[in-house]
Amino acid sequence: MNDGDKLRVEHFEDYESWGNDIGSDGLGKPAVATWRSQGEDVKEIQVQVLRTPAVSKMAAGEDEYADLAGEIREFIDAATAEDFIAWVNRCTHLCCNPGYKKTPGSAKFEAADKVYCNCHQSVYDPFSPTKATFASRPRPQG
Ligand code: FES
Repeated sequence: MNDGDKLRVEHFEDYESWGNDIGSDGLGKPAVATWRSQGEDVKEIQVQVLRTPAVSKMAAGEDEYADLAGEIREFIDAATAEDFIAWVNRCTHLCCNPGYKKTPGSAKFEAADKVYCNCHQSVYDPFSPTKATFASRPRPQG
């Protein structure tokens, strides 16, 4: 896959075993894409795509996902095809673009298997769906 290529399901065929020496292998395979906006002010929005076996577990209510309910349950039921999830790749702190398994040093912040933003070490867990608040995180002290 090269920069500018359209993402295709076949790019993610090894998603159940994929790894890149950051965190654990087999949790899913990520890619970054742009979502072209129809608006005039914002031409492209960066999105993170992840194909992960966790999506099937979420949809089936297995393991730690047995208690998903309400809006989160509705979202998972409506948005699970072939184990893909995607989200706007923008940190709520100062709008940097974080990444899943993107930064080798993320293990130091217990974020090797999570979405890590190296601006001020914000960490997001793609395997724990929650309702988005879009509230800015407080700036670090000191
Ligand atoms: S923009 Fe992500 S931690 Fe600052």
